[in-house]
Amino acid sequence: MMKTLILGIETSCDETSAAVVRGGTEILSNVVSSQIESHKRFGGVVPEIASRHHVEQVTYILEQALEEAEVTLDDVDAIAVTEGPGLVGALLVGVNAAKALAFAKNKPLIGVHHIAGHIYANRLVEELEFPLLSLVVSGGHTELVLMNEHGRYEVIGETRDDAVGEAYDKVARTLGLPYPGGPQIDKLAAEGEASIDLPRAWLEADSYDFSFSGLKSAVINTLHNAKQRGEEPAPADVAASFQASVVEVLVGKTMRAVRERGVERLVMAGGVAANRGLREALTGACEEAGVKLTIPPLALCTDNAAMIAAAGAVMYERGEFAGDRLNGEPGLEL
Ligand code: KG4
Ligand code: ZN
Repeated sequence: MMKTLILGIETSCDETSAAVVRGGTEILSNVVSSQIESHKRFGGVVPEIASRHHVEQVTYILEQALEEAEVTLDDVDAIAVTEGPGLVGALLVGVNAAKALAFAKNKPLIGVHHIAGHIYANRLVEELEFPLLSLVVSGGHTELVLMNEHGRYEVIGETRDDAVGEAYDKVARTLGLPYPGGPQIDKLAAEGEASIDLPRAWLEADSYDFSFSGLKSAVINTLHNAKQRGEEPAPADVAASFQASVVEVLVGKTMRAVRERGVERLVMAGGVAANRGLREALTGACEEAGVKLTIPPLALCTDNAAMIAAAGAVMYERGEFAGDRLNGEPGLEL
C-alpha cells in the first residue's frame, strides 16, 4: 500500500504554515512564516493583525510547501487543517483555504485539534508507543494528556489559570523583555542563580492540575517590594528563580503521573518544550526513572503544519473526516 500523503495547514495563532507529510512520520516539507516581528511592538499577538497576515501569506505558503515536497495537489490523499483552539479569525483563514482546496480537488478534509498536533510532532521524530503520557506546554495550554492508542486523548491534568507560556511572557514583560518572553527568560535563567524564594503550586496532593498565576503575582510582588526598599534584584536571578519553580512543578507532577499511571513512554509538546531548563530537568528525571522520553527539536516544538499533518494522518487511517461544514472552533476540546 502506498503511504498516505497529507497536506497540513496551521493558522491558529501567529504562524502561517503548510506542510506535506508522508506516512504520518516523514516530513517532505514544512514551511513556516512567523509574524512575531509584526506583533512585537504591541507586546503580544493582536488578533486582527494575525488574521490579515494569514490571508496575505497562506496561498504562497501552500504553494511553497507543495513545491518543496515535489508533489502536486493531485498527489495528496487528504487536507488536514487546525480546526481549534485558537484565535477565531486566524483559524478561519486556514479552514477556508483547506475547504477551498478540498472542494476544488475533491479531496477529503480533516479537522485537527491544535494540541493533538503538538503531541504528534513527536511522531515525526520517533514512533509513539502506548500507554503514552504527554506533557503539553504552550502559550495557551498546560496539560498532561494520557493516550492508550493513536488519536485518543485523556486530559488527566490541566492549568486552572494561566498557561505556562503565558506566565513566561508576563514575567518577561515585567522584566522589560520583548515579546515573546519565553526564550528570553530561558536565556537569562542560565546566567542567574535561583536565589529568590518563590512558591511552588503543588495544589491538592492527588491533583495533576497546574496553576501559574500565583507564581506570576509572586514575581511581580517581589520586584515591587524590592523597589520599595530601594533594591533591584538581578533580572537573571529573577528569571532563574521563576524558571526553577516552573520546572520543579512541571517535572514533579509529570513524573508522579508516570509512576501512578504505569507509563513507560513520555513525550513533551508545545512551544515551552523548547525551554532548555525544562528539557534538561525532564531528561534527567526520565533517565533516573527508566522512562523513554522524546522531545521534538525546537522547530517542531513551536507552531508548524507538519505536526498538524502528522495528527491528520492518524485521523485519515481512522476515517475521521470533516464535512464541508468544517468551521474554526476557538474553544475546541481535545
Ligand atoms: O506552542 P506555541 O508556539 O504556541 C501556542 O500554541 O501557544 O508556544 C508559544 C509559547 C510562548 O508563550 C513562548 O514564550 C513560549 O512558548 N516559549 C518558551 C520558549 N520558547 C518558546 N518558553 C520558555 N522557554 C523557551 N525557550
Ligand atoms: Zn501551539
